Amino acid sequence: HPTPPVTLVIFGATGDLTRRLLVPAIINLTRSRLVGQDLNILGVGIEPGDDEFLRQRLDAFLAHLEGEEASAKDEAWESLRSRISYLQGDFTKDDIFLEIGKRLGKTCNAAFYLAVPPSFFGPIVEKLADLGLMDESGGCFRRIAIEKPFGTDLASARALNERILARVEESQVYRLDHFLGKETVQNLMTARFANMMIESLWNNRYIDHVQITASEIVDVGTRGKFYDATGALRDMIPNHLFQLLAMIAMEPPNSFDAEAIRNEKSKVLKALRIYTPEEAKANGVRGAYTAGPLNGTDLPAYRDTKDISPTSKTETYVALKLYADTWRWAGVPFYLRTGKAMTARDTEIVITFQPVPFAQFRETEVNRRLPPNRLVIQVQPDEGMSMEISIKSPGQSVDTVPVSLDFRYADKFDIGKTTGYESLLYDLFIGDQTLFQRADGIEAGWAAVQPFLDEWAKDQSVPDPYAPGSMGPACADELIQRDGREWHELGVILHKNGK
Ligand code: BG6
Repeated sequence: HPTPPVTLVIFGATGDLTRRLLVPAIINLTRSRLVGQDLNILGVGIEPGDDEFLRQRLDAFLAHLEGEEASAKDEAWESLRSRISYLQGDFTKDDIFLEIGKRLGKTCNAAFYLAVPPSFFGPIVEKLADLGLMDESGGCFRRIAIEKPFGTDLASARALNERILARVEESQVYRLDHFLGKETVQNLMTARFANMMIESLWNNRYIDHVQITASEIVDVGTRGKFYDATGALRDMIPNHLFQLLAMIAMEPPNSFDAEAIRNEKSKVLKALRIYTPEEAKANGVRGAYTAGPLNGTDLPAYRDTKDISPTSKTETYVALKLYADTWRWAGVPFYLRTGKAMTARDTEIVITFQPVPFAQFRETEVNRRLPPNRLVIQVQPDEGMSMEISIKSPGQSVDTVPVSLDFRYADKFDIGKTTGYESLLYDLFIGDQTLFQRADGIEAGWAAVQPFLDEWAKDQSVPDPYAPGSMGPACADELIQRDGREWHELGVILHKNGK
């Protein structure tokens, strides 16, 4: 279904997000005819320039994209290009909002996209509301899309929600978490709720523990200023990794309606155990990468990177052990880890089932070490799922061997190259909030990580070192090994079959 007519007003139109993700996603949507001639873009930015200025900027960027991503010269871009206009101004002054109002004129529907630093979120929403731009009384929709980071801790996230919701309705607010745009993340609910085989085992009677890993090869690069004030925990855990956790741990919603789904996700995030200071100390570890070779380059240590304080205590790696205190998950640990400058770019969820209660196979060393079943959900790259089971190896002896049943999206579907923003923008235009975060869910996420933030703020020690290209610091291994478990090897199942 094509989207209704809409003007997308992008604050921060000359920035990286707009050219790298938003515009290419809209080009893809145009190509698949999900948006048409009645979508207009009004870019707002601080740099001086006219409509042609922004169009040429985008031309230049799109020309850089290669191969499948090359969108610069095609029809979809040509048709969209003519519907892009630009407005220069200061986001903190009334003038620009009055001018936006004028430009919108009789345009009914508008979505305001805040691709700006977080300090502008509150002020822009207030101006939009106070100058009448959020008024839906005429039957049009007026929506706001807000990028992360949404707050830097529980108190600031609460304050921002309060500030926004004092002016506009929750139904007008679309808080983005781009992980929710990823195909495999959206598949998590289908995998669980469309498959009796999976969902009936999905509880503490059959599941031993859950691991969620988001490992990245990229280092902090040029984002030093942002990153040093943020760190791996704030950057990845209460948002991206908790979205994955919520999809894995939520109860089945009564319908696929946005509110039904968001209710269940919020419920499970609110059930995350809030640790005491001692518990936070025991269940969270940090690391920062040292200098060393990575991907053919000599990476300087995190603390020697541009814009990073040499005495920085900021972590580039974090591992946590968490619990969701619910009937279904009581006693099942969730181990989460994420870091920069690691071995591989790989986001995976691994569900490890309980061992069989009794191994009646012949007493051999192989059989005694019968590995538990595992379900691996590879979020990226090489999206897919894999189920590891034990079979008897051929021959006269009764030896078990683990094998995996693999499914890769790329083998079955022509998924093409997407930015992950297509679904999010499409849903913003059609008014489906399922893939966006609700105020209570965001706050619940921050509440669960706040004890770690508090502990680490008090702690004078620096994060443990790890070498670039490794899987993180030794303390992360200790965190899981003390429970008699191991971190799973990344990509092992999907990659080992030579795929
Ligand atoms: C962003 C973080 O939100 O997500 C980055 O700020 C991180 O630090 C990125 O690299 C990861 O997203 P993706 O889609 O590349 O896995």
